[in-house]
Amino acid sequence: MQIDREAFIASQGGASVVNRMNPEAKADALEDYMMRQLTPEGKIPRVADIEARIETRPFRRGVGHLFVAEEGDTNVRRLAPMPVKPTLADFFRLRFLSTGNHVLQSANLAMKNGLAEEIILACLLHDVAQELIKVDHGWWAAQLFEPYVPEQTAFAIRYHQALRFYADEANGYPYPTVYSYVFGEDYQPEPYIEETYKMVRQHQWYFAARQVTINDLYSFDLDVNPSLDQFTDVIGRHFTQPAEGLGYDNSPVAHMWRSIIKPDAPL
Ligand SMILES: [Fe+2]
Ligand SMILES: [Fe+2]
Repeated sequence: MQIDREAFIASQGGASVVNRMNPEAKADALEDYMMRQLTPEGKIPRVADIEARIETRPFRRGVGHLFVAEEGDTNVRRLAPMPVKPTLADFFRLRFLSTGNHVLQSANLAMKNGLAEEIILACLLHDVAQELIKVDHGWWAAQLFEPYVPEQTAFAIRYHQALRFYADEANGYPYPTVYSYVFGEDYQPEPYIEETYKMVRQHQWYFAARQVTINDLYSFDLDVNPSLDQFTDVIGRHFTQPAEGLGYDNSPVAHMWRSIIKPDAPL
């Protein structure tokens, strides 16, 4: 989930209080805050409870961030225009507004952990398709990036989504507690997710996709605000920027980029 940094700090009594917390206390406070955001009534929901909430919202849960007002806002905000030949960096600056910080933190952690550049790039891109749509975001994201990134990067992006539901304790990935709140305590992944997991588990690139999940979960840190500049070289070496600009290169995914450029278009 995306965390509203300001709201979290305010809920703890201000920045000075948060700054005095040791990392463990901060992590506990953050987890507690996330749980309360997810379940105002304070109990772990079941799948049926989550389904019962569907008709309490004016939008569907899988809608992309760009298409619905941010939490706390009544209406969406006007988006800044994009350059005529937009680059990946332009999308980070002007469109990946809800997911940018999260993926930068993830990529920063992957870099600190000394992972291969293809994996760092996967971490940097793994969740940004949620600006367009959240349902099956791993598949959407991989499709969005496939023409421009190494095959292994697209693989890791696509399959991180399925791997999230399966613990790999030996490699430092327990089942995330927060998922009981997001999906329900009795949630079982659908058969296509299960099948995908089994396939990826046997694949030579399993570790690439697994690393996205490992660097994902622990990547939220209030004190870390990496900038895209840190990844300029990784992007330069592994992301093929089309000369016409993303969205205008007549690739099979150009329309997906254009949908991110102009989500206010009526048709
Ligand atoms: Fe994800
Ligand atoms: Fe993520």
